[in-house]
Amino acid sequence: MTSSVSIAIGDNVFERWVDHFAANRARHSAIEARIDWNATADLPEHAREALVRSFQRFELGEGGDGVHLLRKARGRGAFQQEALRMLVAEEQQHSRLFRRGLQHMDAHTLVSHWSDRIFTRLRRSLGLRTELALFLTAEAVAMPYFVVLARSGPNEVIRGIGTRIALDEEHHLAFQIDQLKQGLASLSIPVRSLVFAAWWCVAVGAATVVAIDHGPALRVCGMPVRAYWGVALRSFRRAAAATFGREERIGDN
Ligand SMILES: [Fe+2]
Ligand SMILES: [Fe+2]
Repeated sequence: MTSSVSIAIGDNVFERWVDHFAANRARHSAIEARIDWNATADLPEHAREALVRSFQRFELGEGGDGVHLLRKARGRGAFQQEALRMLVAEEQQHSRLFRRGLQHMDAHTLVSHWSDRIFTRLRRSLGLRTELALFLTAEAVAMPYFVVLARSGPNEVIRGIGTRIALDEEHHLAFQIDQLKQGLASLSIPVRSLVFAAWWCVAVGAATVVAIDHGPALRVCGMPVRAYWGVALRSFRRAAAATFGREERIGDN
C-alpha cells in the first residue's frame, strides 16, 4: 500500500480488502488461462437459448461503472473507497466474462433491458447503506446461480465462467457484510427488527425475479426453479445473519 492513503476509523478492515482485491488479479488470470475460449459451444438449441437469454441480462447488470455508488461513498475512509472501486472493477470483469460467454455461444449482447433500467434507477435513488444492502441481496440470491453454473454448466467454458465468478462473489458477500455491519450496530433493536423484516421482503422478491428470469438457464444446469428459490433464500439468510452479527459463516449449509 502507498503511504499517501490515510487510515480512518475501521479502515484496517478495508485495507485487508484492498489487499484481497489486489491479490485476486493473479487468481483471475490463472482461472481464465485454463478456459479454452476457442472451444465450440456445441449446445442443444434450447440450452443455448436459455443460457444466452440469462447471460445477456447478467452482462448488462454487472457492467455498471459504479460512478454513483462511489460518489455516495466519498465520506467513507480511503481504504473503503478504494476497496469499493476495486469491487466495481471486478463486477465489470464479470460483465466481460458473460460477454465472452455470449461470443462463445455466437450470440450478441443487449443494448438495454427494462429490468436493468428500473434496477439502476432504484439504486441511484437510495442512500449508500441501502444501496449496499440491495447490492448484497442481489449477490446473495445470485450466488447459487453462479455455483450451479460452475458445477453443472453444460460445457467447460460455461463452467469456467461460473467458477471464475462464484469465487469472486463469495468474497463480495463478505465485503458487503463488513461495510454494512458497522452501520447496523448503531441502530436500536426495534429499528433493526424492522430493517431485518423489510430486507427479507426484498430478498424474497429478488429471488423470485431471478427464478423467473433465469429459470430456463437453471434448468439447463440441472437445478429446478423451486430448488433454486430455496437455496437462494438460504444464501440470503446466511448473509443477513452475518450482517446482523450472528455467528453463521457464508459458506455453511
Ligand atoms: Fe458480479
Ligand atoms: Fe459481486
